[in-house]
Amino acid sequence: MRLDPRVLGYLGRALSHEYGAVQQYLTHAGLAAAWGLEAGAARLREEAREELDHAERLTARLLDLGAMPGASRLRPVRAGASLQALLEADRALEAEALALYREAAEHSARVGDTVSAELFAALYEEERAHARALAEWIDELRAAPAAPRLGGIDA
Ligand SMILES: [Fe+2]
Ligand SMILES: [Fe+2]
Repeated sequence: MRLDPRVLGYLGRALSHEYGAVQQYLTHAGLAAAWGLEAGAARLREEAREELDHAERLTARLLDLGAMPGASRLRPVRAGASLQALLEADRALEAEALALYREAAEHSARVGDTVSAELFAALYEEERAHARALAEWIDELRAAPAAPRLGGIDA
């Protein structure tokens, strides 16, 4: 298999995405904890760990291909003043991941890099599960009685 520069480009973009996601989920976990929402904070911390696992798998693939991982341009955190607003921002983040991984998997398969294609496809499925879980969580919050508004940090 000849090394395809666009596959490397997708791996680099994916790594930047994942470190940005770690930053956003850890920030949201910290905000939720500061608002006294410990269960929500724990769940967001767990999301951050899953995104870090994605970064680890992408790093391994880059090293396998002989490329030095070099994530850059960390995406700024989008926050909000309520747990629901944080989750909406996280859902937008997951939608970006889905678009990126679909494109990356299709391209990798097209150029015959099946290992990268499989990694991107697996990440796509995991981000889809994240997006689905966030949507359900948001629905639960909407159905619950209104919580008192707490101070937060606006994006
Ligand atoms: Fe991820
Ligand atoms: Fe995710």
